[in-house]
Amino acid sequence: MSKKSKILFTCQSCGYQAPKWMGKCPDCGKWDTFAEERIVRGPTASRSRAAVQSEPVPIDAIALDQENRSLTGIAEFDRVLGGGLVPGTLVLIGGDPGIGKSTLMLQALHGLSRQNQKVLYVSGEESIRQLRMRSQRLSTASHNLLVVSEIDVDAILSMMERHKPQTIVIDSIQTMFNSELTSAPGSVTQVRESTLRLMLVAKQTGVPIFLVGHVTKDGAIAGPRVLEHMVDTVLYFEGDRNHVFRILRAVKNRFGSTNEIGVFEMKDRGLAEVSNPSAVFLSERPDQAPGSIVAASMEGTRPILVEIQALAASTTLGTPRRTILGLDANRVALLVAVMEKKLGMHLMGHDLFMNVAGGVKIDEPAVDMGIVAAVASSFLDKPISNGSIVLGEVGLTGEVRAISHADTRVAEMKKMGFIRCLLPESNMKRMKDIKGIELIGIDTVENAVETLF
Ligand code: TYD
Ligand code: MG
Repeated sequence: MSKKSKILFTCQSCGYQAPKWMGKCPDCGKWDTFAEERIVRGPTASRSRAAVQSEPVPIDAIALDQENRSLTGIAEFDRVLGGGLVPGTLVLIGGDPGIGKSTLMLQALHGLSRQNQKVLYVSGEESIRQLRMRSQRLSTASHNLLVVSEIDVDAILSMMERHKPQTIVIDSIQTMFNSELTSAPGSVTQVRESTLRLMLVAKQTGVPIFLVGHVTKDGAIAGPRVLEHMVDTVLYFEGDRNHVFRILRAVKNRFGSTNEIGVFEMKDRGLAEVSNPSAVFLSERPDQAPGSIVAASMEGTRPILVEIQALAASTTLGTPRRTILGLDANRVALLVAVMEKKLGMHLMGHDLFMNVAGGVKIDEPAVDMGIVAAVASSFLDKPISNGSIVLGEVGLTGEVRAISHADTRVAEMKKMGFIRCLLPESNMKRMKDIKGIELIGIDTVENAVETLF
């Protein structure tokens, strides 16, 4: 039987295909991204399996079996997954090289193996000796944790049939290879085909599969967005390599809430959970220093307290410098303009530097008042008393607007020992009575700054 083959040129950035080579991709606009790939049209394993006939059924006739999630025992990880691992899920874990994806996966599999699950770690990047050395360091050796160094998808599928593992990790999807395709591992066509075949197996057998994916410089998982819609859950493992904290973020989850985060710390014996991130992010906060304030930001369902720092230094430059880390620079520019106009603070004559301690990024209007307070505190050179926090979104006329999840944030502040909270007047009305923390309503920035200083 002769298989029909066809040559196509595929953009390695977005997956666009064309019959001839092009210098610039008409779809994503990138230059020099086309690579030649021979596509074989034949009855490949995945396609013949996909052709298994299925019949539509009424939705209410489907049995609702008890959701049977398995737990890795790493609480932060289980929470980001939406409360454990659903059978048959395909989870993509993306992140920069060296951020700790393989470490996290090995620890998670170890957690599952301790509950007598037989699990399989497939590495296309490391030899089994290297895996053994890593597991020694992490103390994750277990008889139920099988490891193999393999890149051929066919071999992995037959291995699954023989050994019947209950959870699988593929590290990484970019190293996987289908022999029917002639293009190199890591090309869009290979990555897409490998993912498709693994997805079919996951759905048929109910075995959850984790796919590790490297992220390209511009932030997309290489081989790229095509993967994000094929999988059930997309997690990003992020963090600054210069900081020890790592944040695991769900950006898509068919079985749980997105924007849920898990915080980890990279130690010499692997990743440790940080179950109280607020305490960690606030641990180095200076005492009574002008320009420093604590803000409460919601990360998924969880409030996290972080320290915002501002430094306003007078300048003789015609255009003052604005260096903003961890916050949205446009948002800060807007708030500075409001402060000039409403508070009469001459910030045009000042360079402004802002930072969120610990390498955290916040992007939420509820911290507007925190930013205003930090800048005002540095500008006036007056500290904000240590036990105080300010919440609120700021509008262009200087009004302080209501924020979401006010109760949860206030509860977290109270837990962390704060004694005074300034929050929007409109939230005050709906607040439950909370003891042990003084709540003060504010309605304009003028009013807030007057109360603070
Ligand atoms: P790794 O899991 O290999 O990253 P990825 O798979 O995302 O590329 O982690 C690599 C980094 O983590 C490496 O720079 C060393 C560091 N590390 C530790 O600090 N402690 C440890 O116990 C381990 C295993 C790694
Ligand atoms: Mg790795």
